[in-house]
Amino acid sequence: MNSEGEVEDDAAMMDGATLAWGAIAAVQGVRHPISVARKIMEDKPRFLVAESGERFALEHGLEMCDKDELVSEEQYQEWKEEANVLDRPNTVGCVALDSSGNLAAGTSTGGTTGQSQGRVGDSALVGSGLYADNQLGACSTTGDGESIIPVVLAKTAIDALAEETHPDQAAQHAINTLKARVKGEAGCILLDRQGRIGWAYNSDNMAVAYMTEALQQPAVFTEKEQSFAIA
Ligand code: GLY
Repeated sequence: MNSEGEVEDDAAMMDGATLAWGAIAAVQGVRHPISVARKIMEDKPRFLVAESGERFALEHGLEMCDKDELVSEEQYQEWKEEANVLDRPNTVGCVALDSSGNLAAGTSTGGTTGQSQGRVGDSALVGSGLYADNQLGACSTTGDGESIIPVVLAKTAIDALAEETHPDQAAQHAINTLKARVKGEAGCILLDRQGRIGWAYNSDNMAVAYMTEALQQPAVFTEKEQSFAIA
């Protein structure tokens, strides 16, 4: 929730086959911002903000909702009590590889807790919040947008893959770059064209899950070295 106690969402999607992308930012009353980003990508890559993103969603039959529905009573109370707490990331990201070798990345966020109205972070920015290229890999990031943007975190991780490093090393390289150059916390998930998985973060923890053909159920982690089975 932002400084006004409202939710403004940002989201983007990128297709690694064509490098097509779509992005929205500072939209309200949209049930699934990532679906709007995907629709924009498929329609004509561009970045639509606020009312223009909401109008696009409405005109393309995507699910709208009352903006208050995105805030539970419990969250509202928490916001009132912690109104001065800033920089808590609220981001979900996904990377995928299909059986034809197509990679995709998507990132969606409510920004940071208490952010000023209209602030937009990294999540909807291709190169910072996400990147996908069938020739290399796909990456989605989370964390402090103000730190992620200047090191172009997702592209930094993808470019490290070009040096034929494992995605775990490439993800760690990207986080090391962020730590060396700016203050702030971030994390990234990374998938290469061979389907190898990697992730790294410099926050206390970051929840990650993945699923492959070989697994019966998703592998779920709350910390890098700690996985648990889901029911
Ligand atoms: N990474 C989310 C944001 O800074 O908005």
